[in-house]
Amino acid sequence: MNILAIESSCDESAASVVFANKKKKEIKVKSNLISSQIKLHSKYGGVVPELAAREHVYKLIPTIDQALKKAKTNMEEIDLIAVTTGPGLVTSLLTGVETAKSLAYAKNKALIGINHIHGHLYAPFINNWKNIKFPAVVLTVSGGHSDIILMKSNTNYLKVGKTRDDAAGEAFDKGAKMMSLSYPGGPIISKKAQEFIDKNEKSKLEEFPRPMKYSDNLDFSFSGLKTSLLYRLKKDKNWKKKINEYAYLYQEAIIDVLITKTIKATQKYKAKSVLLSGGVSANIRLREELHKKAQAKYLQVFSSDLQYTTDNAAMIAAAAIFNNKIKDTRSLNKLKNNWKTVSVQENLD
Ligand code: KG4
Ligand code: ZN
Repeated sequence: MNILAIESSCDESAASVVFANKKKKEIKVKSNLISSQIKLHSKYGGVVPELAAREHVYKLIPTIDQALKKAKTNMEEIDLIAVTTGPGLVTSLLTGVETAKSLAYAKNKALIGINHIHGHLYAPFINNWKNIKFPAVVLTVSGGHSDIILMKSNTNYLKVGKTRDDAAGEAFDKGAKMMSLSYPGGPIISKKAQEFIDKNEKSKLEEFPRPMKYSDNLDFSFSGLKTSLLYRLKKDKNWKKKINEYAYLYQEAIIDVLITKTIKATQKYKAKSVLLSGGVSANIRLREELHKKAQAKYLQVFSSDLQYTTDNAAMIAAAAIFNNKIKDTRSLNKLKNNWKTVSVQENLD
């Protein structure tokens, strides 16, 4: 099955061509193109929805064209178009959904709408499908959500933990803004933190609180941590000179809670594998520490490849493969008129 996937839920215009073989449990990513708008939005310290939607209008079609070219294929060879329908910025989503619908109608192709979070959930399957053992616990952390998901099989899953306020990525982004660092905050905070780690010095500053670390559920809360950073910076006139150390301590607090709750979930559900995905899973320290802590419990961790952590279209194709509407060639035929019904949906889970 050859899939063309389109993702435009926020500030990335992304297209990917994926060849999937369900029998062999194989997902071959033939192209994965992302036209990022980070430069456009960084001067505003966050994504401006109107600008994002306009940019998608310019970038989506050329990105789709390039994705097909890079995969050395064309629309005739495509069996299915998969498009993100939500959650995300409505105007951004609309550009992707309308583009996908027009293509499906014009080329008489099967079309399926995919939940963006399901995309993140299936990103680790791209290179690891054959090896993932169930039950599996998935930590999926991005700018919009922080969830722990229990997967009993490829297609049977349940959210068992979530953030009660800010998402982990939001904590990175807002923390960076407070420290006058650029958007998005995750990469720059982790770079500053690494500079501190590389100095091999012990921090003399007080640690940040670990909200809900020991609560008897699998939920997170990050808004208090953010407030704590705000007060600490206000109190310390010399914080700019210690910015790497603050970045390190802030990152450690976020990672510590994420890992503790994930390991707790693996014990509660007797998991056989741990999966890690979402934009925040690009964080090297999170990847390394989760591997270490899971290995100590004899658990294998399957992290998304770095290129599939932040928003991309290959993960949308991966989620389509496991969608219960996609069973065989007959089901693809059924989805040929689907362009009439696929629409933007904000809350799908
Ligand atoms: O998955 P994603 O691209 O978009 C959403 O669905 O939200 O995630 C973006 C988030 C941003 O909050 C960004 O700061 C965070 O992922 N992020 C990171 C890193 N790279 C991106 N957070 C921590 N460390 C990183 N290296
Ligand atoms: Zn995302």
